[in-house]
Amino acid sequence: MTTFRELNIDDSIVSALDDKGFTEAFPIQEQAIPLALKGNDIIGQAKTGTGKTLGFGLPVLQELGEHPEDHVQALVVVPTRELAQQVYEDLLFAASHRPDVKIAAIYGGKSYDDQIAALNDGAQIVVGTPGRLLDLNQQHILQLGRVRFVVLDEADKMLDLGFLPDVERIFSKLPDVRQTMLFSATMPGAIVSLSRRFMTHPIHVQVVDPDEGLTQANIDHFVYRAHPLDKDEIIGRILQAEGRGRTVIFTRTKRAASRLADELDDRGFKAVAVHGDLNQDQRERNLNRFRNGEADVLVATDVAARGIDVDDVTHVINHSIPEDEKDYLHRVGRTGRAGKHGIAVTFVDWEDVARWGMINKALDFGQPEPTETYSTSPHLFSDLHIPEAATGRLTASTRSGERRSSRGGQDHGGRGGQGSHDGRRGGRRGNGRGREHGDRDRPHSDRRDDHRSQGGQQGEAKQEQTGEAAKPRRRRRRRGHGQGGEAGQGHGQQTAASAE
Ligand SMILES: Nc1ncnc2c1ncn2[C@@H]1O[C@H](COP(=O)(O)OP(=O)(O)OP(=O)(O)O)[C@@H](O)[C@H]1O
Ligand SMILES: [Mg+2]
Repeated sequence: MTTFRELNIDDSIVSALDDKGFTEAFPIQEQAIPLALKGNDIIGQAKTGTGKTLGFGLPVLQELGEHPEDHVQALVVVPTRELAQQVYEDLLFAASHRPDVKIAAIYGGKSYDDQIAALNDGAQIVVGTPGRLLDLNQQHILQLGRVRFVVLDEADKMLDLGFLPDVERIFSKLPDVRQTMLFSATMPGAIVSLSRRFMTHPIHVQVVDPDEGLTQANIDHFVYRAHPLDKDEIIGRILQAEGRGRTVIFTRTKRAASRLADELDDRGFKAVAVHGDLNQDQRERNLNRFRNGEADVLVATDVAARGIDVDDVTHVINHSIPEDEKDYLHRVGRTGRAGKHGIAVTFVDWEDVARWGMINKALDFGQPEPTETYSTSPHLFSDLHIPEAATGRLTASTRSGERRSSRGGQDHGGRGGQGSHDGRRGGRRGNGRGREHGDRDRPHSDRRDDHRSQGGQQGEAKQEQTGEAAKPRRRRRRRGHGQGGEAGQGHGQQTAASAE
């Protein structure tokens, strides 16, 4: 193990890391920091939750020095607003003993005033989402002409079609001579090739363990084919598993996230939602409630799949399967972070079995056929250590946190018998008809959003402006699936650094 001091990080930064008990570098940090300090362009790839943020954050801070000049020198571009805020906070903490370092978070859905003030105050590091960055650049408030360091976090997402045009525009504003760093847990070959366009002789740093597959070794994976109408009931039971701490549940659509959060709330759990139908203040408030423990279940769309770091998430549940294997890795990677253990449960609906097959193959899970699973299935209880007596809702005696739904919790009709009972109901074809096309949340919604706004508060993406209540709350949706895989236990890591 190498300490940060041994990596030539200055005392003022090391002492800030010490405050959090971070003394030894994680493998990606150990590898990337020396290369970055030598000025190399870097593609840094390491699994979720293994410390990539400081892997790029520390060399940038180190290079800026104790007393950087007051103009934008480093730019970190990320795909979602929540991640922008989080990376901003991570850098603030690492720079907390360097009072002259100023950092600004620039993303959509928030008032321009504070962001403009931070830039006018001479921020040297800017963390942001593409839409608002370009917006403020066009208004000549954000100057990019003297940027020395640029980082794309979640780089494969940033270079994906949804973001690429904006990212290209940002790069076109940057000086040719600069240091460029790309970080992500997933880096498909095509993206690596594409990235060369923006980099000079990049070094590809990959932390890999030859004994491990592509999945994060600290996570146990279970995949179940479940009936859509039984899923809430199954989730209610999983939420009572032994050792269950903070839990993130991913849905495919904003509407499904909203409905499920309400449903779980009715069932006595402390659930909040984060998705694009909420305004930014609501999104942040809910994520903060999850971070500070007021709520212990976060129901989210893929907006929360990448990069979001919340301590002690013990379980991730995929209420419906992710788009592909990359999204799978990012979603389940909200647990099993910083060496901790996590559990990932994925429901596969009938109509998603083929898609699951592709994910299974890509990740080499060896479980093409998800196990048919009901809320009463013995293997559900034994796999996940659920007490035998658990039902799908908390009773007065099992409820820990009193709080009922603000709506009183009664009579939200509907769920009367749904899915409860013997789970046998429903039989097969959960015939995918609840697919809610067009309601899919887009992690990159920030793009458009910021474009359409100048000044004022209105930086919301169109889909986000549909506001609040994607009403169809109690609509019964179909969907189901599941089965369980697993992954090994991780050990020593190896790092491969190769010149691109
Ligand atoms: N050297 C360290 N010692 C202890 N904890 C660390 C260290 N470096 C990072 N951490 C913590 O590990 C957690 C995961 O780090 P981080 O969010 O940077 O992961 P990541 O690799 O970016 O994951 P993702 O791919 O999901 O974005 C964070 O809570 C971070 O504070
Ligand atoms: Mg990250």
